[in-house]
Amino acid sequence: MIKLLIATRNGGKLREYKDLLSKYKFDIYTLKDFPNYVEPLEDQDSFEKNALKKAQHAADSLNILTLADDSGLVVPALNGQPGVFSRRFAGLDATDAENRFKLKGLLKTLQEGERNGFFACSIALCLPHRCLKVVLAQCEGELLLEERGTHGFGYDSLFLKYDYNKTFGELDQQIKNRISHRKKALDKLDPILSNLIESAPCVT
Ligand code: IMP
Repeated sequence: MIKLLIATRNGGKLREYKDLLSKYKFDIYTLKDFPNYVEPLEDQDSFEKNALKKAQHAADSLNILTLADDSGLVVPALNGQPGVFSRRFAGLDATDAENRFKLKGLLKTLQEGERNGFFACSIALCLPHRCLKVVLAQCEGELLLEERGTHGFGYDSLFLKYDYNKTFGELDQQIKNRISHRKKALDKLDPILSNLIESAPCVT
């Protein structure tokens, strides 16, 4: 089995990736398996550059095929905020609830038709000292002023998916995983992931 590190400490992302990647039969590792590993600063100005920095740093330091995700919520009428600052929107160590509280305050200053946005997800897949691919995908929705639902993480309870009339906080993870920014980004990596699995030596 090929070892694959998902380079995140975000429990919400990990749950989704474990489900999304289950069909490939990788031997999955997470950063919990490398407690001494120090992640690099996420100081880049785009999701793609941050994803690449995270994946390549972990792959090189830990000598393992690595997938890293940089993602966030973008509200065009708020000049793209929270954007690449989604995780630390209300401060460096802000909780998801504090970030949502700050966002709600800003959303209230917008007109109704301006409260649209999208989740963006960039995924980088890197071998030690060699990046295989960086992809980007997005998922559009409407931002609510009041939270709905307790599933998911981050801004899920404020993000209404039009076609379902439910927030990501109300939808089951299985449904979110069929339509999300993360799923769409992972679909773009499917040819490489499938190829890695198919070309792996079969140990009997
Ligand atoms: P990152 O760890 O720098 O990629 O930060 C990602 C942040 O973006 C999370 O902490 C959430 O606040 C937000 N985010 C990304 N993806 C999602 C999602 O699927 N649902 C809700 N919030 C998300």
